[in-house]
Amino acid sequence: MTRITESESAYDRHRLGQWLTGEARAEGVGRRDMVRLLAAAGIVSAVPVALSAPTAGAASAGSAARPVRAAGAGIVKPLPPELFTLHGTNAETRFEALAGTGLTTPVSHFFVRNHTTTPRIDAASWKLRIWGDGLTGGARQFTLAELRSLPPVTRTAFVECAGNARNYFKTQQNQPVAGTPWGTGAIGAAHWRGARLSDVLRRAGLSTRAVDVMPRGLDDEYVTSNGTNYGRVRRPMPISKALDDVLLAYEMNGAPLPPDHGFPVRLLAPSWVGISSIKWLGDIEVSTVPLYSPWNTDFYRLYGDAYPSEGSAPLTRQTLKSAFELPWNARLSAHTRHRLTGRAWSADGAVTRVEVSTDGGASWRRARLHDTGRRGSWTRWSIPWTPRKPGPAELLSRATDSTGRTQPETTVPNTQGYLFDAVLRHAVTVEA
Ligand code: MTE
Repeated sequence: MTRITESESAYDRHRLGQWLTGEARAEGVGRRDMVRLLAAAGIVSAVPVALSAPTAGAASAGSAARPVRAAGAGIVKPLPPELFTLHGTNAETRFEALAGTGLTTPVSHFFVRNHTTTPRIDAASWKLRIWGDGLTGGARQFTLAELRSLPPVTRTAFVECAGNARNYFKTQQNQPVAGTPWGTGAIGAAHWRGARLSDVLRRAGLSTRAVDVMPRGLDDEYVTSNGTNYGRVRRPMPISKALDDVLLAYEMNGAPLPPDHGFPVRLLAPSWVGISSIKWLGDIEVSTVPLYSPWNTDFYRLYGDAYPSEGSAPLTRQTLKSAFELPWNARLSAHTRHRLTGRAWSADGAVTRVEVSTDGGASWRRARLHDTGRRGSWTRWSIPWTPRKPGPAELLSRATDSTGRTQPETTVPNTQGYLFDAVLRHAVTVEA
């Protein structure tokens, strides 16, 4: 059901307990929200009247609500309608536009998820500041040239929004959820090149007592439509992940990062929900006490009937999905042999099998896989289909990965519509 592991939950309980005893910091998170999380975790039994916890700087309610702008207005690159669907500050890749692209998604096709607008940053004067009590010798700054002089690493990985496919909670499961109504196109895969975050942290003088890092973007502060100011986009990450496989990426598909994807440097946290891959990196706090931000308290946890009353542990890994490279409601002629193509992907293991149903789930056939599956990368697949009966039809695809997981028929709902992984029922029309 939930994909939050025992160890993630245990870590969350541990760090919440530390907040209570003054050993964790939560700037920008309302004190009430922290207490809510504590109550949920069973660390306090109810919202206490006088709690001897540090006062978190609550998100401030600014007077000015976010100005209304044309959809996609804050994005720099062209957003032709045949490649993108616009949702406010974001641009979703049309999944059918991936047909014919390879294992990496060209920048021209890559989705953009911006809380505000793409900032224009001067690389020559840009510096990354690493600071916090988790360093042994005080703050350090790195120029782009210094990062480029460290041993480079290239990694192929997808960035996928935690809310990818959120809209299907509503259309397939009749469950209203909050947030951008993404179809399946809030994902893209690229070759990322950069320095290892672990190399940079060690050069900055990482203390053995450090437990969390908090990367923060240089884009504008995030102010909701009702005027709540959450500050700059930032989300803490345990030091274990930071030292594992995280990159400070300065290239995407062999060229400098484009403005919309984090120029000059972004974090790349393979397999984790897209919010972990902070763009336009400005600073990273390294802390000996656990850190909180609205992006691991209010957002990016699972809330709802199936979860502890105050939410799951913060989301980490993405999930398992598959989709057809076909427009929704595509029209296909009857008595013609069509080659249906699609993609499957998993953050946990290699995709090992994709099955397809062309009769609404009554019978299944195995699709041909065109790539050797790899965790965190696409597996392309195809299957022939000669429809006989004109009229509406539903195409289904169902992926299995090397951990033995298969996409379920439904996803257990959560109020913010994260981690949809159910089999999609793709509507098409067969024409006589
Ligand atoms: N980093 C900053 N600074 N600001 C943002 O708005 N959005 C996050 C993440 N990093 C975001 C950010 C989210 S929610 C996602 S899914 C990915 O960036 C999207 O990356 P992309 O726009 O390069 O596709």
